[in-house]
Amino acid sequence: MLAADPSKELIDSYLNRSFCYQATAQGQLAGIIILLPTHPETLEIVNIAVDPKLRNQGIGQQLLAFAEKNARNKKYKCLEIGTGSTSFAQLYLYQKRGFRIVGIDQDFFSIHYNKEIIENKLVLKDMLRLKKLL
Ligand code: ACO
Ligand code: ACO
Repeated sequence: MLAADPSKELIDSYLNRSFCYQATAQGQLAGIIILLPTHPETLEIVNIAVDPKLRNQGIGQQLLAFAEKNARNKKYKCLEIGTGSTSFAQLYLYQKRGFRIVGIDQDFFSIHYNKEIIENKLVLKDMLRLKKLL
């Protein structure tokens, strides 16, 4: 979870209000996805992470497909996700799965995180908000 969100405080703030699922491979934990009901009819993926040793093998896409199916079954109309503006691989993955950018939470990471986050050689400041209608 900390790989997806380096703030333990923020994770603690959503964990007990969320649905948490794990992906397993050969009986071992391979990844996690955390889904938080936010607005009526909206579920947000607040945390998704795959074991570093198992990345780029399709597990992330499977977790996103699972989240969509889970949300549809529970009659949610919209799935949201927020990610860093410097998170190029994640942005690729989410857009590949049909998420569209709908907004920018400017300075989200400067305001809510005590420590500077460097990603892809850039200082992370802004969160991009993405949405998929179900
Ligand atoms: N630029 C563009 N595409 C890239 C890059 C890159 N630098 N690196 C990898 N990719 C592509 C891969 O080629 C693959 O695409 P393809 O299937 O079309 O070839 C895709 O990105 C990765 O797909 P998966 O293998 O399904 O994803 P993976 O199992 O690696 O999981 C995840 C993705 C969850 C983002 C994983 O990398 C991870 O745990 N990262 C650290 C935690 C994190 O950043 N989580 C998201 C934060 S946002 C949030 O939690 C709400
Ligand atoms: N993901 C992340 N970073 C990448 C990728 C990638 N897929 N591909 C290249 N990079 C990095 C390079 O490593 C380099 O960074 P670094 O110096 O930190 O290593 C950087 O991107 C490229 O920097 P330059 O070499 O200075 O830029 P370049 O001379 O390649 O020019 C440009 C960039 C103009 C975008 C060129 O690629 C191009 O002509 N592309 C086609 C036209 C285009 O897309 N233009 C912009 C459209 S928007 C507009 O015009 C308003």
